[in-house]
Amino acid sequence: MNIFFEIHQGNLREGPGDSQSTLCALSYLKNLPVESHILDIGCGPGMQTIDLAKNTSGKIIALDNHQPYLDELQRRAVTEKLSNKIAVQNGSMFDLNFAPESFDVIWSEGAIYIIGFEKGLQEWKKFLKRGGYLVASEIAWFREDIPEELQKFWTQAYPAIKTVKEHLQIISNANYRLLAHFPLPESAWWQNYYHSIEKKLPQLESKYYNDPEAMELLNAEKFEMELFRKYSSFYGYEFYVIQK
Ligand SMILES: C[S@@+](CC[C@H](N)C(=O)[O-])C[C@H]1O[C@@H](n2cnc3c(N)ncnc32)[C@H](O)[C@@H]1O
Repeated sequence: MNIFFEIHQGNLREGPGDSQSTLCALSYLKNLPVESHILDIGCGPGMQTIDLAKNTSGKIIALDNHQPYLDELQRRAVTEKLSNKIAVQNGSMFDLNFAPESFDVIWSEGAIYIIGFEKGLQEWKKFLKRGGYLVASEIAWFREDIPEELQKFWTQAYPAIKTVKEHLQIISNANYRLLAHFPLPESAWWQNYYHSIEKKLPQLESKYYNDPEAMELLNAEKFEMELFRKYSSFYGYEFYVIQK
């Protein structure tokens, strides 16, 4: 676990994403109340939380179960003079303790996979007000003809990976209205995420060359990036903007 957090600590993001995509998704949310209540689930170090706070009124609860990420977000909120709009909360997405219909918006970038796309949509719905929005990004196959090595890697790393078409069916089955969906640009994987990891690898490799478990994790990170370089037209992150 230590090495995992050494790879990930201090990065601007903990998954693919960028401000343009966050703001693009936000642009589909119409008539948000001035005192809007937003819940950002699996906020990580909170790049998207800061973007949301700058571009909405009201309050955001930023929830994660890893305290160092929340501390980082708290620091950023203070620097950006946004701490009156963002409240960080250490908690689990599996066990949300909010009153029904508490939120105008539930936001979750690159984190709904932890509970599962379908389960997240079902379980979080009760916390949305009527007409409230759920915005989530989730890894997806963009095509059906997936190369074998890619299929093998991702079905091992994330067996529940689905096509965009399957996600749309899940959205419809869960009785949400689909407002928009779009893929993250390839640059959003590199800019704030893979490049930060790539930069740390040489130093971590020299530190852990004698530790087979740690080296395995580092090699897996490298392999994941290699696959993305090779096959980014076959898969990526898809943003979904849906309404209760
Ligand atoms: C891939 S990261 C995405 C972080 C952030 N939204 C972003 O896009 O940079 C997933 C986040 O979910 C958090 N997480 C993992 N399990 C969780 C749980 N059970 N409840 C809440 N957050 C969790 C992790 O700590 C991590 O910050």
